[in-house]
Formats: sequence, C-alpha cells, structure tokens
Amino acid sequence: MARLAVDPAFVVGALDRRLFGSFVEHMGRCVYTGIYEPGHASADPDGFREDVLELVRELGVTAVRYPGGNFVSNYDWEDGVGPKDQRPRKLDLAWRAIEPNQFGTDEFMAWSRKAGVEPIWAVNLGTRGLKEAVELVEYTNLPAGTSLPDRRVANGNKEPYGIKVWCLGNEMDGPWQIGHKTAEEYARLAEETANAMRRVDPGLEFVACGSSNRHMPTFGEWERTVLERTYDLVDHISLHAYYEPKNGDQASFLAAAEDMDRFIDSVVATADHVKALKRSDKEITLSFDEWNVWYQQHFPGELGLDVREVSPLIEDTYTVDDAVVVGSLLITLLRHADRVKIACLAQLVNVIGPIRTEPDGRAWRQTIFHPFALTAKHAGSTVLRTEVSGPEVDTPEYGRVPALWSTATYEESTGEVVLFVVNRSETDKVDLEVPLHSGLRVIEHLALYDDDRSAVNTAEDPDRVVPRRIDGTEVINDICTATLPPASWHMIRLS
Ligand code: AHR
Repeated sequence: MARLAVDPAFVVGALDRRLFGSFVEHMGRCVYTGIYEPGHASADPDGFREDVLELVRELGVTAVRYPGGNFVSNYDWEDGVGPKDQRPRKLDLAWRAIEPNQFGTDEFMAWSRKAGVEPIWAVNLGTRGLKEAVELVEYTNLPAGTSLPDRRVANGNKEPYGIKVWCLGNEMDGPWQIGHKTAEEYARLAEETANAMRRVDPGLEFVACGSSNRHMPTFGEWERTVLERTYDLVDHISLHAYYEPKNGDQASFLAAAEDMDRFIDSVVATADHVKALKRSDKEITLSFDEWNVWYQQHFPGELGLDVREVSPLIEDTYTVDDAVVVGSLLITLLRHADRVKIACLAQLVNVIGPIRTEPDGRAWRQTIFHPFALTAKHAGSTVLRTEVSGPEVDTPEYGRVPALWSTATYEESTGEVVLFVVNRSETDKVDLEVPLHSGLRVIEHLALYDDDRSAVNTAEDPDRVVPRRIDGTEVINDICTATLPPASWHMIRLS
C-alpha cells in the first residue's frame, strides 16, 4: 500500500508549455521521408507529409528545436534558402551523409506554422560563429529594407518570422562535436554571439550550451565557466540526457528518472552558485532540450562515408518499458517546473522518435507517443508537489528508491487535478491511496503497461500498445484508491 499526498495549496510552479517540446534534426530520416516527402500520397503542396503533421498535432508538441543537434555545427544556413534547384548538395560531417538542402529555414518555418509549434533555433558555433548567427537572425527576424531580410522576402516570405528562442550552438563540450571547444573558448564565443544577436533583435531568448550529459568529465565546471561569462546575457542553460537499459539491468532503467532528477538538481545548484557569486537577482532557468530513451549500444558510432541522401539512422523501436520510462522522465520535468522552462523530446520522427514512417508508406505512433501525448493534453497550468510513502525498490545504479514516482497538476479554470504516477517495481503491483479534500471525483484513469513488457508497435501492428482504461479507480469518503500493476505508467484525472 502506498499513500500519495497532494494539495492545490502546495505549488511547484507554473507550467511552461514549452516543456512539451521536441526536436527535428537533419539526421537520418527525421526530415527527409519523415516530415518532408514530396511525392508521398499525403504530401501537401509544400511536400510536408499530412499524415505526420496530424500525428504531430495529436502528440501535443508545442515547440520544436531545429536544425540540430550535431548537424548544426557544420551547417551553412544559406545553403538551405532560395530556389531549390540552385541549392548545393553538401557533405554533413556530423552524420557523414549527403545533405540535399531541399528543406531549410523557410521550409521549417512553413512546417512549424502548419504543425502549430514554436520554433527553437540553434546556430552553428562549431565551424562558424558570430557573423553567420547575426546574419541568420537578420534574415529571419528583421522587416524588409536591408539585404538579408530582402532575400527572405524575395524567397516568398514577406513577414519576419520573429523567432524568439535561440540555442547558442550544440553540445560544445563534446569531443565528437565539430568545432568542439573548451569551456572558456565556448563561453567567450557564446557571450559575444548573444550580445551581437541581441543588437539585431532585443527580444531574443538565449540558451547557452550546458553539458552533453551529467557524466561528462567537465560537468559542473563547464556550467560554472559558461555562466560566469554569459550570466547577464542568457536566459537558459541546456541539459541533454538519453537512457537505455545497460547489461540487462531493467530495474535501474525503470528508475532512470533518478538520474534526470539529480542532473537537474546539480545544474540548478551550479546556476545558483554563479548567481550568488554575481550578487545577481536574475535566475537562470533550464532548457532540457534533448531527452529520451536511446539504445546507443545499437549505434555504430563511426559511420562510413555514405552518399545516400536519405538513410535510416538510430530508428529505435520502443517497447512498453521504454514508454513507462519516457512517462517517468516527463514526470521529472514537471516536478521541476519552477526551473525547467523548455524541454525537447529528441527527436520527433523516425530518429529515436515517437512517430515512425515508412518512405512512401504509412506513419504510426510508437509506444512512447502515448504518455507524452496524454501528459501534454491533460497537464494543468500549475504543477503541484506530491509526497509518496510506500514500498521501495532496489536498483543497482541508484540504490533503494521509492517504487512510485509521481507529480500532479491543477487547472484553476476547471478545478481539474491530474495525477501522473509510475510504478517502477518490476514484480509488485501497488495499491494506492490518495486522500483528497475537496469532493473530487474520478474522470478517467488511463495506464500504459502490458504482460509483455517488450511489446512494440510496428507498421503491421501500429496499435499493439495503446493506453488502457482502468476501471475500479474511485473516490470514497474523499479517498481515491487505485491499483497500479508492475512497471506501469498512469494518468488519473479528478474533477
Ligand atoms: O539526437 C541525436 C544526437 O544526440 C544529437 O545530434 C546530439 O546533439 C546528441 O548527441
């Protein structure tokens, strides 16, 4: 038996909807035959796959980071604008593939409007720098009257795009990054670039690169160095994390939220340390702009020089357990809603994506699609603190941790309270009791679990794993009771 305490009076913070962001990189089949496939039966006049657009809207994604990822660190944005028949084919050094440049800045803006998402733009601070970043923001954000915005208008886009959020490079701490830098080198470049870009458009919001994950040798020191230089100029510091089961240790994998939680706590502590050093009133917030389950053990690492324009890369097929973990990672982001203001599930389509497509074929929802879509749809505007007492589980990686991992939200306009809970025990169901104080009733209880925890969705069987409605969850005498099977994700809506 476990008890979960929740009260609309105990608030974590207001939910920034950009927490339900995702990521489109020019990598594998994310763009080409993912979101863009002229000639596909569902393609619109711009070549965007309507079947994918529909799924993106259903997923509830609010913001999409673009164009990379590692790709951005040797990307020349100018190659991707203007008449398509004049755009160069280029070698992409990050993924060693040919980039045909048939989809670029203007196409992404048109796509993001159709998808109803806010763009989050990354600039190349690997092979390029301040000048190109400034020119890009001139192209995208200024009204006509000078040469770069005039080029945008000549390319058919009269109104400035007004892109607000800009990532100052990508994973610049990683030795794999093209143009990888030391913390000092990066900090100086980020400082100068943000300063110059803001002179073009004072309304910009900046994300400085944090560490690529919390196990990087420079983690902590990197954030401190970067923020000491850029504190007054940037708004957010980035975090990236990918999880997978290691050596068959599924117990630790189900508890991966522990790592994400500790990672967030450490970055908040480092940012606040710099705040103290600077005697500043400003608070740096977090952009967790790459997170997901990724079976990196299946990734070859070194890629051959591949001249195919479209070739599958890291198209992981997600299981039930993967979906439970993705649900628990989202819970973690919500638990930190006071400091995490942006988060991007990486990536959106095909490349470790919640949506999969066949070229010239169908599009379907992976298992991880479901907890994301339900959370994005039903999470209320205020995140509430939850306290759980109850059973614990032993994990080789994180020690003994509570079996239940939870958060809750409150929507003032409807009075709806939504509980999001994961049972991380592989073996035991948990009977849950939630004392309530305000005459709430159960609207619905949806869950994701399966006797076959390795079940997946495929093109042939796209709905093998879908959320199940749980009957029997009820409120009696102001106590909500529910039974949570082993290794399961839950959303309980109360009103
Ligand atoms: O999302 C795949 C890759 O993972 C991104 O390009 C990079 O930023 C990260 O290492």
